[in-house]
Amino acid sequence: MNNEKFLEGKVALITGSGSGFGRKMALSFAEKGADLVLNDVNLEGIKETKNLVLKDNEVEILLAKADVSKLAEVEEMADKVFEVFDNVFLIVNNAGIDGGLSTSLKAKEEMYDKVMGVNVKGPWNITKTFFRKMKRQKQFKPVRGKIINIASTAGTSSGHNPMLGVYSISKAAVIAQTRVWALELGSSDITVNSIAPGVFLTPIYNSDPKLIRQFLDSRNVKIPIDKIGEAQWVADLAVFLASSTADYITGQNIVIDGGMTLSINKL
Ligand SMILES: NC(=O)c1ccc[n+]([C@@H]2O[C@H](COP(=O)([O-])OP(=O)(O)OC[C@H]3O[C@@H](n4cnc5c(N)ncnc54)[C@H](O)[C@@H]3O)[C@@H](O)[C@H]2O)c1
Repeated sequence: MNNEKFLEGKVALITGSGSGFGRKMALSFAEKGADLVLNDVNLEGIKETKNLVLKDNEVEILLAKADVSKLAEVEEMADKVFEVFDNVFLIVNNAGIDGGLSTSLKAKEEMYDKVMGVNVKGPWNITKTFFRKMKRQKQFKPVRGKIINIASTAGTSSGHNPMLGVYSISKAAVIAQTRVWALELGSSDITVNSIAPGVFLTPIYNSDPKLIRQFLDSRNVKIPIDKIGEAQWVADLAVFLASSTADYITGQNIVIDGGMTLSINKL
């Protein structure tokens, strides 16, 4: 699988690709030959991702600034995408926010709406807007399209950070959406899976391994494979799910956490 350009001729749309996992996935999919739609609310971020990708890859890239929580903006983005590209083979619903630290029941209404808007309604807006096109892509066989949702171990076990209450609820909903869509889209030859990362070094957690360590120690959370995650490992898993090796996998939530959630209570 490693050197094959198995995504050549296929378009990958990655939300939140101006940073963190989204940027790594953009680089990894481009290495496999994919053309890219880079979405983010942060235009500077996706411009930088584009420059990084084009250093080593000759692929087409469309920058698509849009807030995924707003259906009208996503629909406008889809119009632009199909002016430029004739397919969208791969969607990664990656854009996400934690909304700040609070237990769920002490959270402000505004924060609840914002986190659920970006993390849950965002993937729904994107999938609702793009699946009809995917369904018609008979040129890709046996799978016409693939959707990968970025969940979190917070969605299966909130024990490692109870102060991410609303975030945990939102990521549990991402996992539920994955299963529901796998059922709804299976007969259209579209696979839907989610990736649930544990604790990784990306800007969302300030990219400071010492602080992450201190936090995990304070909560007595152990990672059996004793390392903080690197974003590239999530990108590698996404590449696997995008490959034909994973064509018969759908409706699954794949945890990538070094075993961290083995030691904490499940939701
Ligand atoms: N870093 C971790 O340890 C970790 C663990 C589990 C899950 N996750 C999830 O991984 C995903 C990516 O996170 P990351 O760590 O790379 O974070 P990040 O903050 O580096 O990247 C998230 C990107 O999403 C963009 N974004 C935010 N709101 C948006 C919106 N409404 N519309 C479009 N783009 C928007 C941001 O501008 C940013 O570029 C998120 O869904 C996050 O919840 C991260």
